[in-house]
Amino acid sequence: MISANKSKAQTQNPEVLPQHVAVIMDGNGRWAKARGLPRTAGHKKGADALRRMLDNCSKSGIHYLTVYAFSSENWKRPSDEISDLMQLLQHYLHQELEILHEKKVCLRFIGDLSRLDLEIREQIAYAIKLTEKNRDFHLTIALSYGSRQEIVGAAKKLAKKVLDGSIKFEQIDEELFSGNLDTAGLPELDLLIRTGGEKRLSNFLLWQSAYTEFYFSDTLWPDFDESDLIAALDDFVKRERRYGTTG
Ligand code: FPP
Repeated sequence: MISANKSKAQTQNPEVLPQHVAVIMDGNGRWAKARGLPRTAGHKKGADALRRMLDNCSKSGIHYLTVYAFSSENWKRPSDEISDLMQLLQHYLHQELEILHEKKVCLRFIGDLSRLDLEIREQIAYAIKLTEKNRDFHLTIALSYGSRQEIVGAAKKLAKKVLDGSIKFEQIDEELFSGNLDTAGLPELDLLIRTGGEKRLSNFLLWQSAYTEFYFSDTLWPDFDESDLIAALDDFVKRERRYGTTG
C-alpha cells in the first residue's frame, strides 16, 4: 500500500527516483469551463497546484522541478488572458518569493524574457538574485519559452563564439551545446509529466528530453495532487531506462 507521504517508488529504491521532473501544466481552461468560471480562475487554481507540487516533490526527494508556465505560442492568446496570466505571475512572485526563499528554493527562468514588460522583468531579476545561492530545491519556470527558439539561440551563440575566435569549430559537441541552452547547468531531465490528457510536447524541452521518460495524466492541472504525483513516480520506477543499450 502506498502511504500518503511515501510512494512505492521511494520505499522500494530511492536511487531510481527521478532527480529532475518537468511538467506541462495543461487543463486550467477546461477546469474553469467545467465550472462555468472564466479561464483565469483555472489559472489561479493552477498556481495553487504549482505550490502543492513543489512541496510534494520536495517530500518525495525530488530536487529539480521545471514547469511550462507560458509558451512562445501563448502570446497568440487573447490579450485579456495574457495580461491575466502575467498579473498572476506577478502576484505569485510577490506572494511566494519570501516563502520560496525560506524553503531555500533557487528560482530560475527560461525563455525569451525580453518580450515581458519591464516591471515583470525587474521582479524576475530580483527573485533570481535573491534566491541564486539556495540549494535545497531548484524551481525553473519556463516563460515565453519555446524549445526550437532556444535551440536556434544556442546555435547562434556558438556560431558567434566561433566567429570571434573564443572557441574552435571542432570543439562543438553535445556537452558544449547543452551548456549554451537556457537550461545550462540543470541535471538531465528524468521525467516529464503532461496533465490534461493531451499527448504531445508542445515545443517544451525538446533537446533536454532525449532520454526522458514521459507520463501523461488525464487529470487537469488544477486538480493534480499528491496522489497523481505518486502515481507518476510509481510508473516511473517500473520503467527500464536503457539509453539505447540492450539493458
Ligand atoms: C495551460 O492550460 C496552462 C497555461 C497556458 C498556463 C499555466 C499557468 C499556470 C499553471 C499558472 C501558474 C504559473 C505560475 C508560474 C504562477 P490551458 O489554459 O491551455 O488549459 P486548456 O487546455 O484546458 O484550455
